[in-house]
Order: sequence, then structure tokens, then C-alpha cells
Amino acid sequence: MTAATSLPESATPLAGARIVLGVSGGIAAYKSVEVCRRLVDAGAHVTPVMTEGATHFLGPTTLTALASEPVRTSLWEGADAIPHTRLGQTADLVVVAPCTARVVSAYAHGLSTDLLTNILIATRAPVVVAPAMHTEMWEHPAVAANIELLAARGVHIVPPEVGRLAGGDVGAGRLADPATIVAAATAALGPRDFSGLRVVVTAGGTREPIDAVRVIANRSSGRQGHALAAEAQRRGAAVTLITAAERVAPAGVDVVRVETAEEMRAAVHAVADADVIVMSAAVADFRPVAPQEAKIKKADGIPTIELEPTIDILAELGASRRPATTLVGFAAETSDVEAYARAKLVAKGADLIVANDVSADDVGFGHTTNAVTLVAADGVVRDIALTSKDAVSVAVFDEVARIRSTVR
Ligand code: CTP
Repeated sequence: MTAATSLPESATPLAGARIVLGVSGGIAAYKSVEVCRRLVDAGAHVTPVMTEGATHFLGPTTLTALASEPVRTSLWEGADAIPHTRLGQTADLVVVAPCTARVVSAYAHGLSTDLLTNILIATRAPVVVAPAMHTEMWEHPAVAANIELLAARGVHIVPPEVGRLAGGDVGAGRLADPATIVAAATAALGPRDFSGLRVVVTAGGTREPIDAVRVIANRSSGRQGHALAAEAQRRGAAVTLITAAERVAPAGVDVVRVETAEEMRAAVHAVADADVIVMSAAVADFRPVAPQEAKIKKADGIPTIELEPTIDILAELGASRRPATTLVGFAAETSDVEAYARAKLVAKGADLIVANDVSADDVGFGHTTNAVTLVAADGVVRDIALTSKDAVSVAVFDEVARIRSTVR
């Protein structure tokens, strides 16, 4: 049995999180300074983005001095030709504080009129919006409807408070307290319990060449593996995704593209000192002994293709395991899922097997949904009913976190 390998205690929820702090034009822009300072103090990497209006209320130098990067104000500045997509794609979280009626409404309707609204539309990260405006504007049916629209889409709204507004008016519309905004940001980010850990995820189905044009492949789409990589990244891990799938990799992960089982094996061994290795790839079990360099012609008759077994990467890792590494394998079964998963745990020396019944509807290969049974070496079994592959990824890393926090 291996030694205790708990998650690093130094990991604070915001440590290492890449946060875009959007500031739009209102008197409350000055409070973004306090939001920025609190985020940076909590260990976040903050990129401030100000609208043109915001720069009339707050000098960009102030935010630049406090943030992790200089303020961005325009789509067109600097050497980076596409800051809106880069910042949007690589952010773990976008916070807009204060958010004016204009930015609320532009975002609700998908209008991209400046750098900030471009980022909001380009990102897939969670977004926190803290509106601030005059009471009449906050209560206007158009603004209220747009806020509702954003909330229904999963945007985290930090409602304004009642208090003194610009020009001496008193009413609803004052920006929420910076501490409240930072608390909402922390909650929206979710657990960052893999901060400081290195996670390797394999994905997709390997292709084993028969000749110059033909391969032995399988039905794996790589969706589950890519979703696992995204989840590990979201939780703060440094992620290497070794993928045989022709799909876009999540932003911010290190990607190694491979084709064959042997290429995947070499790539995994190069990073086998990781803290967590999740073998979700459908690695070919057999490959042609002698792939032909040229194309086999029909005229030469029906070929006999001799196969040999590939090396089982997971079993190899399990046999020479580093005590600190948590090893996760997958099992695609068509019956007796839990029993076969238990056998695989032992045969492969893994800490956890994620097993699915691929004969069930909408499960596993090629589907956007999955239903799995998580079978851990310490005897814990969890059934995850049919859900999205993103939700399965959350459950898998919850289980990895549980295993790592248990003294084994
Ligand atoms: N695996 C591996 N290297 C291989 C084959 C599989 O690392 N050459 C890993 C997969 O990534 C997965 C697990 O092993 O994590 C799947 O186990 P496997 O024995 O391949 O499952 P099945 O193919 O379903 O095996 P069986 O037909 O024996 O049930």
C-alpha cells in the first residue's frame, strides 16, 4: 500500500486562478481597485480590462500598479492581435465590477463592441457580474430582463446594494461590497483543490497502421478525456493531455498529439512522475505485426493481417508505480461492470477504475453523455447515473481527491 499523498494544504481557492477583471464606466470604478487588490492578495493572476468609460473614472495606472498585468483597454493595442479570444479562452474566471447597464445589455444580447464585451462572449469560463448604476436604470424593465437572461444562462449576478449613488441620490444600484464580490468570485470558480498538482490525462482512440492508408481504430471520440483534462485544469492542476482524438484541446492545457499505442506509451512515460494519471484513452489492445509502408493493392488479393498485443500502459505504470501517483483506469464493459472493474483494479495496480456499460443507451463511446461506476481500491463504489461527460469528470476528480486525502 502506498503512503499518504494528500493535496497541498497551501492551496487557497483563488491561488493561481487566471482572472480577467472587467471594469466598466461608473463612479464605482474606484471600488474595482479594492476588488483587484483582494484577488491578487488571494494569489490570483489578475488581468484588468477597462472600458473606455471606466478610464474617465479611474486612471488605468492605478489598476496596473496593483494587478498582475498591465491594464488592457482596447482590442487594438499591443503585439497580441487577438487579445479578446486569448484572454477569454485562458481565463479561469471573468469578473465584471462594476458592470454598467450598457455592458449588462451588450453581454445579454451577444454584442461585442469593445475588448471587455468581446472577452465576455469569447470565454467559456464562469462569469461574475456586479452591476452598479442609478436606481432608475437598475429598475428599468430592459435592464431587469437582461439581468434575468444572464442569470438564466448561469452568469453569477452579485446584486447591487441600496445606498448613496453618484450625485447624492440614495437608492438601489450601489456596487456590492468588494468582499462580497470576491466571495462570489471564489464560489463561481469552484474548488481549486488540485492547485500545485500535475495531472496527466490520456484521451481518444489510438490508430494502429495496417498500411500507408489503413488503420485499426475504435469508436472513442476523446470527449470524455478532453472533458477530464478541462476539469483538472479548472481545479487548478497543471495538465498534460495526451490525445489521439482530433478535437480541440481545452485552453491552458499542455497537449501532446499521438496516433499509436506505442506513441501514447512513450508520451505517458515522459510525464509518469505526475501526481495523477488518468488513462481514459481507448488504447488498441492489438496492432498489426508488420504494417506495410506502401498501400496494399486489391489486386494482390485479400491480405492476412497478423496482430500482436500492444503493451498495456496502465498495467506497466501500476507495476512500477511511484507511491505518490494516483492511477486511474477506464473500463468499457458490456456486462458485470462492477466485477470486471474490480478485477481490472487488481490486474492493473490502479487506485480507481471508471467503468461504464457501453451496451447501454447514450453511454460512452461517441456519445456526449456517460454513466459510470467508480470502483476504488479501498472498496468505495459510486454509481454516477447518466449525465454529461463534464459532470462525470467532476465526479472522477472528486473521487481522486477523496482517495488522495485518505491515508493509505
Ligand atoms: N490501457 C492501456 N494500455 C493498453 C490498453 C489499455 O493503458 N494497451 C488502459 C486504458 O487506457 C484503460 C484501461 O487500460 O484505462 C482499459 O483496460 P483494458 O484491459 O484495455 O480494457 P478492455 O479493453 O475493456 O479489456 P478487456 O477486453 O480485457 O475487458
